[in-house]
Amino acid sequence: MNNIHILIIIIIFTLKTYSINHTQNEALAKLWDVSDNQLPNLLENEKKLIMVDKIVKQLIENYEKDFGGTYIDLEKNLLIIYTLNFTKADIIKTSPQLSDYLNLTSFVPADNSLYTLKKSFNETRALAKKLIPKSTVLFIDIKLNDIVIILYHKHSGQNEEFVEKVKQYNLTLEYVDEIVSTAPHRNIVSTIPIMGGDGLYNPVYNSACSVGFWAKRKNLSDNYIVTAGHCSKPHNPIIYLRQWDSKVARFPIGPIIFNKSQPIDVSLVNITNKEDIEPRLSIRNADSEINDQLLINKSLPPVYSHGAHLCKSGYTTHVTCGYIRALDALYINPKRKIKSQMIITSMSSNRGDSGGTVFSYAPDLRHASLNGIHIAGAKVLTIVLPIERIINSLNLELP
Ligand SMILES: *[C@@H]1O[C@H](CO)[C@@H](O)[C@H](O)[C@H]1NC(C)=O
Ligand SMILES: *[C@@H]1O[C@H](CO)[C@@H](O)[C@H](O)[C@H]1NC(C)=O
Ligand SMILES: *[C@@H]1O[C@H](CO)[C@@H](O)[C@H](O)[C@H]1NC(C)=O
Ligand SMILES: *[C@@H]1O[C@H](CO)[C@@H](O)[C@H](O)[C@H]1NC(C)=O
Ligand SMILES: *[C@@H]1O[C@H](CO)[C@@H](O)[C@H](O)[C@H]1NC(C)=O
Ligand SMILES: *[C@@H]1O[C@H](CO)[C@@H](O)[C@H](O)[C@H]1NC(C)=O
Ligand SMILES: *[C@@H]1O[C@H](CO)[C@@H](O)[C@H](O)[C@H]1NC(C)=O
Ligand SMILES: *[C@@H]1O[C@H](CO)[C@@H](O)[C@H](O)[C@H]1NC(C)=O
Ligand SMILES: *[C@@H]1O[C@H](CO)[C@@H](O)[C@H](O)[C@H]1NC(C)=O
Repeated sequence: MNNIHILIIIIIFTLKTYSINHTQNEALAKLWDVSDNQLPNLLENEKKLIMVDKIVKQLIENYEKDFGGTYIDLEKNLLIIYTLNFTKADIIKTSPQLSDYLNLTSFVPADNSLYTLKKSFNETRALAKKLIPKSTVLFIDIKLNDIVIILYHKHSGQNEEFVEKVKQYNLTLEYVDEIVSTAPHRNIVSTIPIMGGDGLYNPVYNSACSVGFWAKRKNLSDNYIVTAGHCSKPHNPIIYLRQWDSKVARFPIGPIIFNKSQPIDVSLVNITNKEDIEPRLSIRNADSEINDQLLINKSLPPVYSHGAHLCKSGYTTHVTCGYIRALDALYINPKRKIKSQMIITSMSSNRGDSGGTVFSYAPDLRHASLNGIHIAGAKVLTIVLPIERIINSLNLELP
């Protein structure tokens, strides 16, 4: 072998190593803009910041006029604490609970206190409830330190009065578009196990939804698939399983048994086809070569920290990830029904993802905590119904 050959081999080898280290198989790697092999460390850092966030939230709980809330900045590996009164910050800093984690916190000046934000939120919410603008999200964005209203471009003609009136409140208006294209197609081998993110097909409406998770009703032997309530239209149809990237839906699962009159947007599919369908407490992630199924660990608590990641798995856009922007948002849906206490995230999603599993990776890339189901979305917006509200209002338990 001459030197040129050796050089070429070295170059190829280097390129290969480089590309291995820079692959972004996982949706979470795309969100954080890092390579897959950096994820375990970052998940570890995020976990610690979530813990520090819980401590700080408790310490500042009764000082809504002195602070503007907290959020996680993973890139800086810091919990940002928006501060209006630095005298109070000095008192918090000396708290013994925080002493080990002070270098993970940063007290940053802000204009609006949590009290001010809540007050404006209340006023804007009253206006929204009066005018009921179509497909609108209203929330306190902790990181922006402002009230945010998100509207869909396509409905802007119908929401003019609301937009005019709301401008007096000095808040942030954002417009979103729905996604046009869908996730890249890959051929997936047919499997009958059904898990979070799989497609659901409603033959009466010829419409798509996604599997949230497998659940049982307390005291009953029935097995259910939890999905979004708006999938039950028009009148509790038989729902079929539709696998990712497949246009056909061969396997009936069973009828939707839960009623639309339910105040939260959730419904239950009764798994009556026990021969073909095997529910699993896991989440489909087939676009990842390594972690194609994520196991839901039901003893992990859901995540409630601004700036922490959440991901969703659904039929249309598969697994996408984003940050938590708000925890107690008001959402007015396209039918002008008001839904409160929703989680707002920055991940992208689309029609057909409704009902899909919303989760957080913990403690690694094979396990996840369950955080809720997908309700509505757009390119940079996903609205989430929190898991605790689903479990409590339907008296469910995870198998
Ligand atoms: C790439 O990753 C491998 C193993 O994960 C590691 O041994 C190697 O040092 C990394 N190379 C670079 C350039 O980071
Ligand atoms: C700031 O906090 C200190 C300590 O609690 C308090 O005495 C002071 O009144 C606060 N200042 C303002 C402007 O609220
Ligand atoms: C934070 O402080 C601990 C010790 O108190 C130290 O081990 C750690 O390296 C520090 N981290 C940073 C990011 O400075
Ligand atoms: C906002 O409204 C809630 C109840 O709807 C109330 O408990 C809270 O005190 C209000 N906050 C402010 C700052 O007005
Ligand atoms: C509205 O926002 C602008 C720019 O952020 C600021 O200068 C102004 O003081 C704000 N007005 C009120 C009433 O908060
Ligand atoms: C349901 O379970 C509770 C305790 O978990 C028990 O007290 C109750 O009798 C059960 N009801 C039925 C109908 O089995
Ligand atoms: C759902 O509720 C409506 C109205 O309350 C009722 O007519 C219908 O029979 C219910 N459906 C089921 C499956 O319980
Ligand atoms: C669910 O289906 C089973 C039959 O597999 C049936 O016995 C049960 O009553 C159904 N549950 C409800 C709530 O309709
Ligand atoms: C689930 O989470 C709990 C609490 O963190 C942990 O103790 C347990 O080992 C986890 N189970 C699995 C299968 O990872």
